[in-house]
Amino acid sequence: MIIQELNTNFGCYIDGFDVASSVVDEHVSEVKRALSKYKFVVIRDINLEPAGLENLGSKFGPFADDPYLGCLDNYKHVIEVKRDARETTPIFGSDWHSDWSFQKTPPIYTFLHAKKVPPVGGQTTFADCVAAYDRMSPNERGFFKKIRAKHTAAKAYGPDGLFSNDDSTRAMKIRVSNEANDYVYHPLIRTITETGEKSLFINPVYTVDLLDSNNESVGCKIDDLIRKITMTEHQFKLSWDAGYLVIWDNRRVIHKAEGGYDGYDRILLRVTIGSEIPK
Ligand SMILES: [Fe+2]
Repeated sequence: MIIQELNTNFGCYIDGFDVASSVVDEHVSEVKRALSKYKFVVIRDINLEPAGLENLGSKFGPFADDPYLGCLDNYKHVIEVKRDARETTPIFGSDWHSDWSFQKTPPIYTFLHAKKVPPVGGQTTFADCVAAYDRMSPNERGFFKKIRAKHTAAKAYGPDGLFSNDDSTRAMKIRVSNEANDYVYHPLIRTITETGEKSLFINPVYTVDLLDSNNESVGCKIDDLIRKITMTEHQFKLSWDAGYLVIWDNRRVIHKAEGGYDGYDRILLRVTIGSEIPK
């Protein structure tokens, strides 16, 4: 297996990953180490069907809970992230987010495997939430370590959310629900158990308010913090090829889907793995 770093401690390409039974456990261990170091990995030239993706995902931990999205028939942990050539709805996942951060125990890893990619557009952009914390001054760190962030799915999956306005061209199975109005509080600065790193756990889709230790809102800081994370020089925009399998750590990166491929189909398979209470 060959690992090629994209940027210091943020993202890598992996070539030569083999799912053959004789080496897969050794390769999975190497990928886990790379994920721990780089926060997301791009495994190239691999071809998995839904059963194979579930099987590989399960080697990284238990399946997480995926609300609001319909799974594939016969593969209850696999979601088809797809868009049809003639679709006119908003691009799925097109603003910065960490998957399912509104859950009490949000997922740790997302696996996304490209089956059909358009010749233009459709990239996924990542931003490094640990680097954003590292760039903060001691004063900022002191202030923000006491902040709790309110997360909810309401703006996306609620009865008045983005997906409630979909027209019939949406290819993905998305369920709008009152449950999406529920909310949770997570620490704004979370510590990554395995590495001890600190990460800014916030995103503009699901984080709707910030509370200080007196339970006073400091929500006006949300945009500032998102800007800190998404400085252009700390982003990576991935152009997909069919056969890529990207695994990212939702605790340490945020991501967004780019459009720009109207008139083309795009199909990826997704599983989410592991979950924990942010601390
Ligand atoms: Fe996402």
